Amino acid sequence: MCGIVGYIGDRECADVLVDGLRKLEYRGYDSAGIAVFQNGKIVVEKSKGKLDNLEEKMAKDGKPSGHCGIGHTRWATHGEPSDINSHPHGNKRVSIVHNGIIENYKQIKEFLIAQGYGFESETDTETVAKLLDYYYDGNPIETIGKMMDKVRGSYAFGIMFRDFPDSLFAVRKESPLIVGLGENENFIASDVTPILKYTKNYYLLEPGEIAVLKRDGVKVVTPENEEIEKEVLTADWDVDAAEKGGYAHFMLKEINEQPSVIKTTISPRIQDGMPYLEESGLTIEMLKNYRRIFIVACGTAMHAGLVGKYIIEKLARIEVTVDIASEFRYRDPLIEEGDLVILVSQSGETADTYAALKLAKERGATTLSIVNVKGSTIAREADIVIYTHAGPEISVASTKAYSVQLSIMYLLAFEIAYAKGKITKERCMELTKQLVEIPDRLSEVLVLKERCQFIASRLVNADSLLYIGRGLDYALSMEGSLKLKEISYIHSESYAAGELKHGTISLVTDDMPVIAVATQSDLLEKTISNVKEVKARGAKVTVICKEDAEIGKDVANHLITLPVMEDVLMPMLAAVPMQYIAYYTAVLKGCDVDQPRNLAKSVTVE
Ligand code: G6P
Repeated sequence: MCGIVGYIGDRECADVLVDGLRKLEYRGYDSAGIAVFQNGKIVVEKSKGKLDNLEEKMAKDGKPSGHCGIGHTRWATHGEPSDINSHPHGNKRVSIVHNGIIENYKQIKEFLIAQGYGFESETDTETVAKLLDYYYDGNPIETIGKMMDKVRGSYAFGIMFRDFPDSLFAVRKESPLIVGLGENENFIASDVTPILKYTKNYYLLEPGEIAVLKRDGVKVVTPENEEIEKEVLTADWDVDAAEKGGYAHFMLKEINEQPSVIKTTISPRIQDGMPYLEESGLTIEMLKNYRRIFIVACGTAMHAGLVGKYIIEKLARIEVTVDIASEFRYRDPLIEEGDLVILVSQSGETADTYAALKLAKERGATTLSIVNVKGSTIAREADIVIYTHAGPEISVASTKAYSVQLSIMYLLAFEIAYAKGKITKERCMELTKQLVEIPDRLSEVLVLKERCQFIASRLVNADSLLYIGRGLDYALSMEGSLKLKEISYIHSESYAAGELKHGTISLVTDDMPVIAVATQSDLLEKTISNVKEVKARGAKVTVICKEDAEIGKDVANHLITLPVMEDVLMPMLAAVPMQYIAYYTAVLKGCDVDQPRNLAKSVTVE
């Protein structure tokens, strides 16, 4: 969703802003803009569409030149994507960029209209800009404080006041914002990726704190102007992590990073051959005592939870319920003290997952978050956090974040199973050892890209596709199906193979390709029967299975075979061909792989 950058320093500000916005493109956006102090005046340039449009416009109009400014990529919520609705908003005295939603903007707008203010855009943000102007009395902190008292909703704001051309202001509530600390230059940004090439030091801005950035320093204050002592954090992502590094797309790069990020994620959590989650505050004693487990998340993270359910229930024999966060928060879930609620989130900022976390806490459950972005809201507010170490995931379609989420699910499943006495120490060590081997096995799977490219060439003209599987394969195929539809825009559905006969098989014709995931040995025969059923109705079938699976030559049109591991671990390997198939199908269709239409990487609104 919307991205914010701000800069003050010696560099040409417009360049730093546009470059920073490029690093935030992955969040999803439909327009962009910047505001720069030029000779004491606020000069705004904004444009509908991609950053290239903004750059073209600036090339025509003349790029604003100065050393202090704010920039924004907008993902439309109030009002269509247009030049007018793009940020920054404001007037000659004040200019702002905003990420979030102002819930009471209509009342504020009516109030301001009554005071004689006019509005150009349909956005909620413009009301805040004008409200700041209305309150402005020469004291920016006081003005921002009054604005904060009045507005309801979620926000991160970058703010410029004409009277303070050597200062940038920032404040946030619920939407993320960091303050980058350089040498004689300082930054604000929605996450650390825009600042990495200048500095690794940053502050996390807490809700309600106001940051005042000058060239030579940053002060963080309360709305009452009391200075707050802030801890300087250091980003552990390097600059290259946010670059394509020779790959055609971030998605392809991220698929290929999976062996290394899985290793980085699991290595510190294994001690003497056993899972070790105590450094996160999760003790064997605690794991022994939870009565029920809920896994709550959105999108791909929810799919990681579905695989988690199968493996935790299978190994640890404890009830696990998986919920879509936007459903969980409104279904009055039966959770109580003694339950463990696991929130899974790459960004750690997803609005519905955050709401689910708050609800679980209110009801007295223990909350555990599995999060990729350090210091994000969900990470900070859960009782326990286990960080995945995927590094920045730039492609909107999640791949490596999914794999590292799965790897944590495995460690949890093994440890809970051991804590509850459902598996012996030897078995736990054996499973852990196999998990450690996954990165090597995955490197063998990654070489299957040509095979997957070929299969993609057979799917590219389909209007609709079916993924089928049983058990863990079904859980996994949901992610395969989501991947394909989000980036290639081909409709696809994932179905429990045994359920097909109860309706969905009526859709199967020779125009509907089927991808069958069949990695589970005990279910292989059953799934193959379902494959035969769809093939008999004309479907061209691709089967993803283990190398040693005994499948008759005529059963599948195409086979993708994977190294043999124990059934329970196969999802870690089988995810890759599905990611590749989605990727190459989207490439062949000429889609914008890394920034699919309408989607945002981090969904910070309901
Ligand atoms: C968006 C993204 C998905 C992601 C989901 C949950 O829909 O496009 O890739 O899986 O949000 O995001 P989270 O950051 O909570 O994992």
